[in-house]
Amino acid sequence: MNKKLQINTCLSPLYFEKYSDNKSIVVVIDILRATSVISTAFHFGVKEIIPVQSLQTALNYKGKENFIVAAERNAMPIEGFDFGNSPFHYMNEKVKEKTLVFTTTNGTKSIQMAMQHHTITASFINIDAVANYLINQQKSVILLCAGWKGFFNLEDSIFAGKLASKLLDNGFATTDDSTLSSVYLHQISDVDLFSFLSKSSHRKRLKTLNMEEDTKFCLSPTFKSDIVPVLQDEKLIKL
Ligand code: MLT
Repeated sequence: MNKKLQINTCLSPLYFEKYSDNKSIVVVIDILRATSVISTAFHFGVKEIIPVQSLQTALNYKGKENFIVAAERNAMPIEGFDFGNSPFHYMNEKVKEKTLVFTTTNGTKSIQMAMQHHTITASFINIDAVANYLINQQKSVILLCAGWKGFFNLEDSIFAGKLASKLLDNGFATTDDSTLSSVYLHQISDVDLFSFLSKSSHRKRLKTLNMEEDTKFCLSPTFKSDIVPVLQDEKLIKL
């Protein structure tokens, strides 16, 4: 029996119940763009984030003092909300000390799925802080890739491989082929991820919506953050 802390990678939320064990730390990954937005919002001073599943639930908070409501469906912002799901929306003083109520097609749905776990969110912005946190927590890890509407996507899996590689270098182990495949994907894509993803479904989707700058930023952020968002009482707060 392998006594080392284990890494498992859930390549689609559809498989989460097969991995869920109520003792591992769940790391939600939605690089394009929800968890990159979450890291950006905290970096620019947001107080806490309430991830919700429905547009109506989010709208119930509209206009409340010190609240911002944000929504995306099919990669597009939704009319009537303060912000959409572009990290650039959050790079301003307006978010300072605000509560962000946030709903997206994939990312917040995955967070909701892991609501009963010890759950954090990760992006290329906070990957080093997340790796250090997981190493210090000394618990097994489930890397939960948000994907696209239940389908596998390359960017979340490659990120999972990068994070898994850091953990494997620090005493973790894996017997999970999803983790191994993510590590291999990371290894062959590490030179220039933006180009490697030139034919990926979501990069193409965002490109058709003139959102290539979002993709470039989320894959290679212009700043780093040491904030690890953690779920507590159904809100993401700064550790
Ligand atoms: C997400 O959950 O991040 C969205 O489905 C994708 C996006 O906003 O680009």
